[in-house]
Amino acid sequence: MSEATEQVISGLEGVLACESSIAYIDGSIPELSFRGYDIHDIAQSLTFEQVTFLLWHDRLPHADELRTFSADLASRRTIPTPIIDVLRAMPSSGHPMAGLRTAVSMLGAMDPHAEDISAANNLRKATDLTAQMPTIVAAQARLQRGQEPIAPDPSLSHAANYCYMLTGKRPDEMTTRTFDTMLILYAEHETNASTFACRVVVGTESDFYSAVVAGIGAIKGPLHGGAIDEVMPMFLEIETPERAAAFVDQALTSRRKLPGFGHRVYRAGDPRASQLRIMAEQLGAASGDNNWFAIATAGEQRMREAKGIIANVDYFAALVLYHLGFPLNVFTNVIASSRIVGWSAHMLEQYAHNRLIRPRARYVGQRGRKLGVN
Ligand SMILES: CC(C)(COP(=O)(O)OP(=O)(O)OC[C@H]1O[C@@H](n2cnc3c(N)ncnc32)[C@H](O)[C@@H]1OP(=O)(O)O)[C@@H](O)C(=O)NCCC(=O)NCCS
Repeated sequence: MSEATEQVISGLEGVLACESSIAYIDGSIPELSFRGYDIHDIAQSLTFEQVTFLLWHDRLPHADELRTFSADLASRRTIPTPIIDVLRAMPSSGHPMAGLRTAVSMLGAMDPHAEDISAANNLRKATDLTAQMPTIVAAQARLQRGQEPIAPDPSLSHAANYCYMLTGKRPDEMTTRTFDTMLILYAEHETNASTFACRVVVGTESDFYSAVVAGIGAIKGPLHGGAIDEVMPMFLEIETPERAAAFVDQALTSRRKLPGFGHRVYRAGDPRASQLRIMAEQLGAASGDNNWFAIATAGEQRMREAKGIIANVDYFAALVLYHLGFPLNVFTNVIASSRIVGWSAHMLEQYAHNRLIRPRARYVGQRGRKLGVN
């Protein structure tokens, strides 16, 4: 078909842009599965390393494959010195996502095989970036606070090492499991805006790093992953559970969109949020500070009563990261460093069955104007 259809679908809502066998979403139930496995089962039973293997290879690894895969991932965490130098050169006022975007672009410039888009090389780049993005995020966060980066510890799991590089403390069992689960819940989410951006770049047969940079650019926005950076400041502004309902009412009256609420696909609840809600409550209880969870649930309840709008994944994830002691301005970076797994799965799928992605626009401007005539 070469001619465009007449109907413009605002925001491409409900449009099927490609075929994919990676994630399934039914927003009306709500249901989310990765490669056919329900997200709740995955969150309760698997590790980030297992989920990464699953998303890339469409099956779970055997025990020996998992050991090899985990060790390979761990061996690739170190980032080259010029990347640390780039992060050092970032202005302290700069957005942390700008640092991540620049560092990934620089990794691409330093890769002698950046232009090789063979499946084997793309899988190698996916593994490198999944291992290295946490090191970049953690190094930048520490440099911004005047601290030296911490070298990765290959004896730790992906999640435990990430916590260690960010906080300087080797995490306990509960912290590791909580953070691992959070990374899993963010690892993949079908054709969301950033994943679609990656697929569009791959559609031109451009290189893997360029596509990831596009994904980082898209997930940074406050309507997408960037929303998570605004959630905890909102809870801090609300201050007490008693003020939450009035805060929500005031926002709705002034037609202000509150971060962490609403979703394009999920209208009946976000299955990731229900997992994160439990984790946030447990962390609050363990720390003896229930105030933030109480604010969150009071706000959630008011939003549901007043407008039927659901809390999305970012709402309780922000609380989880806060209780884990992560700096408030790196939350979007953390979720981007998890979503690299899903981006990679989609990019590998797009490269394997590629056709240029090139939609049309319905033209609503003038035609037939003559130069020199006002
Ligand atoms: C996610 C989001 C971009 C989806 O947008 P969308 O599918 O285009 O949904 P709409 O903007 O059409 O919203 C439908 C209605 O709900 C309202 N709404 C949606 N999200 C809202 C929010 N976060 N706060 C207040 N009202 C909201 C809209 O104002 C609109 O109301 P109306 O029908 O009275 O005009 C949107 O919900 C949003 O901006 N949320 C906040 C940012 C966020 O948390 N993003 C992370 C998503 S995982």
